[in-house]
Amino acid sequence: DKAGHKHFMAKEIAEQPGVIGAAIGHYLTPEGEINISTQDIDFSQFDRIIMVACGTASYACLTAKYWFEQIARLPVEVDVASEFRYREPPIPPRTLAVFVSQSGETADTLAALRYCEGKAARILSVVNVPESSIARESDYALPIHAGVEVGVASTKAFTCQLVVLFALVLKAARDREAITAEAFADHISGLRGLPAIVSTALEQNNTMQEAALKLSHARDVLFLGRGQMYPLALEGALKLKEISYIHAEAYASGELKHGPIALVDEHVPVVVMAPRDALFDKTVSNMQEVMARKGKVILISDSKGQAEANDGVWFSIEMPPVPDALAPILYAIPAQLLAYHTAVAKGTDVDQPRNLAKSVTVE
Ligand code: F6R
Repeated sequence: DKAGHKHFMAKEIAEQPGVIGAAIGHYLTPEGEINISTQDIDFSQFDRIIMVACGTASYACLTAKYWFEQIARLPVEVDVASEFRYREPPIPPRTLAVFVSQSGETADTLAALRYCEGKAARILSVVNVPESSIARESDYALPIHAGVEVGVASTKAFTCQLVVLFALVLKAARDREAITAEAFADHISGLRGLPAIVSTALEQNNTMQEAALKLSHARDVLFLGRGQMYPLALEGALKLKEISYIHAEAYASGELKHGPIALVDEHVPVVVMAPRDALFDKTVSNMQEVMARKGKVILISDSKGQAEANDGVWFSIEMPPVPDALAPILYAIPAQLLAYHTAVAKGTDVDQPRNLAKSVTVE
């Protein structure tokens, strides 16, 4: 049932304030503590984390790496499951192995988990299907409470994965005494405000549709982001290519001048994801290099960022203000809606893109 929407993907994008709120409700107590039912998980026992997943779930891991390292001061390595499993990496003691999977049945992710059995100190998974193989074979399985996801392109599962991972990061920061009580409380109240901010972003639907109409004529699109927005650029490019079949690539903004800027000319739209945070000025200078080569910039930023930097851009998409750490969750919305409306404009099969399956149970 598409609940009045044209596609399951549109329905699942629209559901996000509700499911994000549900996920937050499950992982926060009314008193503002992190509620992770597996009580014995204690991050002071771990020296490092390895995170393994495929596709969109691997971008949730990459986002969490920035959070774990900056907020909990815990080193994290992220890998895609198909590479991890055959590399046979050494797993030092006191390593927590984390697997993220919507379906909980992805063959490569499950094989990577089995490789870690008996090697990692503990195995934790973040899944949408609690009865799945990956959940059953983990020491700890944390459900994301996103509800059934039908569209092949993952949307609400991604943002709910990020919410659960963020709660886990706060738990880690607490266990490791890496955070002040004040900063902890700020993050908690930020999380509580998130569903309303996501709703506000969804109200920009028409603006994103307008931007998508422009994108739908492109042959190649670049996505740029810096720091914790880099994984979001990767996610935006993946969403766009999988459902609109437009070639899209993402780069860390600082990598632009090391090669990809050679691609930029007046035919190439460049989507820049840049909330007005501590790295904003750096990203803006990369964006100006793009515009100097006639690249067409779509700037996704908040009102402050737009006011400071949208001179000369091709198109502006304004996001509501959000606490810095939570920007990746909010900026998933424009990434999804740009891809969705571009695919609709091109008339592709949004919910069932060619060559793709919802659950990849073969390697
Ligand atoms: C992209 C997408 C895929 C999945 C990947 C992992 O929109 O849906 O990249 O994220 O196949 O699937 P799960 O999370 O089920 O392991």
